[in-house]
Amino acid sequence: MHTINEQDILTYLLGVNDAELFERANDIKVQRFGDEIFLRAIIEFSNVCDKKCHYCGLRAPNGKTERYRMTKEDILDAAALATSEGAATIVLQSGDDFSYSTEDIGSLIQEIKSSHDVAVTLSLGDRGLDEYAYWHDCGADRCLLKLEVTNPRLYKRFRGGEDFSSRLHKIKFLQHLGYEVGSGVIVGLPDADLISTLRDILFITDLDLDMIAAGPFIPHPQTPLADMEHGCIDLSHRMTALLRILNPHANIPATSALGALDSDSQKLGLLRGCNVLMPSMTPERHRSDYTIYPGKNASNIDITDSLKLAKDMISALGLVPSSSKGFSRRNNVHESTPRSASGYSARR
Ligand code: 5AD
Ligand code: SF4
Repeated sequence: MHTINEQDILTYLLGVNDAELFERANDIKVQRFGDEIFLRAIIEFSNVCDKKCHYCGLRAPNGKTERYRMTKEDILDAAALATSEGAATIVLQSGDDFSYSTEDIGSLIQEIKSSHDVAVTLSLGDRGLDEYAYWHDCGADRCLLKLEVTNPRLYKRFRGGEDFSSRLHKIKFLQHLGYEVGSGVIVGLPDADLISTLRDILFITDLDLDMIAAGPFIPHPQTPLADMEHGCIDLSHRMTALLRILNPHANIPATSALGALDSDSQKLGLLRGCNVLMPSMTPERHRSDYTIYPGKNASNIDITDSLKLAKDMISALGLVPSSSKGFSRRNNVHESTPRSASGYSARR
């Protein structure tokens, strides 16, 4: 049962009581997660994408992006380096790039899981249900599949005509398979008004997710939304704080999009309900080409710097960079081991 109703949410979204909202969110975060902040090492192994999302610089029609695909060996090397630096979760992320076969991804998962004591998260987009089932069998622990906006009309418009319900179906299927599942929205897309923001919060909450991301929209110059305003940082903080109150157990990152707009705002997120940082550990030669939005990845740092900077940011706030895999905290249990797949599905 939620301790906050729709009217409260709207009032908070308007920003009339930010201090109270952020304190409530931080209190809940501390109750569930203490001072720990979880770290996720993202390896952006391909920026090739066959989609046409209006907000994203990796969209297929953007001919100005220098495309790359990392080899299996390079991906495994990046994962090994990330784990040797202390990362306990590896996120394998790419555009919707179908050139990596089901088996290619499966063997990556198996090799990472057998060589390192890490959780593996997949962020690969609209791959098949059968593929996701196979990858779960290969040992993948988590999946990220963003809705980006929960109004089906806006979804269709901003995701190049795609269908909202099939994405939603996929998220539910991933939960059913036993993955920890993350989704989320972009804050402040054009024409997203207060009511659609409220809807995003309620809709996302109803999905009972393990991870929830909500970061501000940043216009990319080579997209149809190039001339739009960026999403409001305060609104983004309000959304993650409200999502924390409504989803106490969920892992909620202080997004890289916040950091791209203003690094202090990303830090503040960690004091306002967020409990995760997701540094890019993509090799230096590729990282500046993963241009979802401007400022996504600093180009002049290497993998080890990236994780160190994230840890330093956490420590400077008086918080603790966690070395645990960081599963979500259902049932208010502080633990670093995963729930079994059967226990997971039993609660649904
Ligand atoms: N601004 C902010 N966030 C964006 N994303 C994609 N494009 C943008 C943008 N222009 C987010 C999406 C995606 C994640 C990697 O970045 O939520 O899933
Ligand atoms: Fe491709 Fe994802 Fe960007 Fe859409 S948001 S264009 S699916 S990389």
